[in-house]
Amino acid sequence: MSKIATLEIGGKKYELPVITGTENEVAIDIAALRGATNGVITIDPGFKNTGSCESAITFLDGEEGILRYRGYAIEDLAEKASFLEVAYLLIFGELPTKEQLEKFHTDIKIESQVDEDIKKILDGFPKSAHPMGVLSSLTSALVAFNPSSVNVESPEDMYKAIVKILGKFPVLTAWAYRKRAGLPLDYGDDSLTYVENFLQMMFKKPNGSYKVNPVVADALDKLLILHADHEQNCSTSTVRMVGSSHVGLFASLSAGISALWGPLHGGANQAVIEMLEAIREDGGDTHRYMAKAKDKDDPFRLMGFGHRVYKNFDPRAKIIKKSADQVLEALGIQDEVLDIAKGLEKEALEDSYFVDRKLYPNVDFYSGIIYRALGIPEEMFTAMFALGRLPGWIAQWREMRLRKEPIGRPRQVYVGETHRPFVNIEKR
Ligand code: ACO
Repeated sequence: MSKIATLEIGGKKYELPVITGTENEVAIDIAALRGATNGVITIDPGFKNTGSCESAITFLDGEEGILRYRGYAIEDLAEKASFLEVAYLLIFGELPTKEQLEKFHTDIKIESQVDEDIKKILDGFPKSAHPMGVLSSLTSALVAFNPSSVNVESPEDMYKAIVKILGKFPVLTAWAYRKRAGLPLDYGDDSLTYVENFLQMMFKKPNGSYKVNPVVADALDKLLILHADHEQNCSTSTVRMVGSSHVGLFASLSAGISALWGPLHGGANQAVIEMLEAIREDGGDTHRYMAKAKDKDDPFRLMGFGHRVYKNFDPRAKIIKKSADQVLEALGIQDEVLDIAKGLEKEALEDSYFVDRKLYPNVDFYSGIIYRALGIPEEMFTAMFALGRLPGWIAQWREMRLRKEPIGRPRQVYVGETHRPFVNIEKR
């Protein structure tokens, strides 16, 4: 393919460079367009055709259903690696050696203490507060407790900030749950793995011990890996955009958590289970709900279906569907909602509305069913997604800063009133 694209505006031709990624993705570089054309810009609401950066972290091919972190297939990582290994890979670019992984985990454990005063902030929230709102606020509050900004030129400073948030975030997530559940706030146990420790922090009762079920720990580890990064999605773009003003890592992450909360993004996993429950309570008539989803006068959408990028299938959904079956069987759980989910999926895959629009189950269609089987309440589902996405956000923030990307500041096409004379209040 030619390395130059030619654009013609009003009979005048402009040559624009074409760049090609390592997986042969082609992009027209319009960085010089506005200057060369004396003010012409491009417009692309929702950024459906716009690359915001060059990135070496995650590759996905929506048509082929491919997802790779740093070149490694998601299927291999979900099967063979631990969440912490994947976190290291995403952030630092290579799979860790045994020693590197051990040091990484030790450093995270050292930093897992959260200032006791954070508990006072948490105390101020009502019990009914949504964990995502709590998490976003507490992550932001960490800035006040760790005021020195990260010197991105210093690998030590950068490393310190990374292990700090990886250590403290699971504690804050568990506390957000425990506050809601009326349980005392506690720390975990350094002898456990990252994921086992998180489970213990969540579920240990004050009057008893908690024994980690390996089936539960394995399933959670896998779920976190599947959620760990997904290139320039809404929350990740938010983290990069906020960080581009050179605000610190924790403040950028707090903004990303808010972006993830929405039902069209990470909030979909909670919305899916609520939808499946509603269908069950309503008699389980999946045909009626399929008809509602297709009716343009009805705002109902089949939650967990469709994806901005995957127009074939979501490779994560395949892994998760298999995992849901395994987990439910291993834990001996019969879940009617899983049958409804499978019924909806079958109908949708044979329905021309969904087939024509390339709407397939996404990662969230089955994740809620597993979370529920693991004993995690619905309102915590999106917080679990945030825990999984944390390494991805960190990796993307780090990459953005190391590449010295400029501040994110999109343009617009103004369509409001043109200049008009001011009218005094008595005359309006
Ligand atoms: N149910 C019914 N119809 C749908 C659905 C759905 N879940 N998703 C898309 N459509 C239809 C739209 O109505 C539209 O139809 P039209 O062409 O006749 O107008 C067409 O499919 C294209 O939909 P868009 O909204 O333009 O697709 P977009 O790429 O902008 O949105 C999104 C993707 C937000 C994920 C959408 O499919 C959706 O809302 N899905 C449900 C929410 C969900 O599951 N979100 C999780 C996403 S994955 C994640 O964040 C981890």
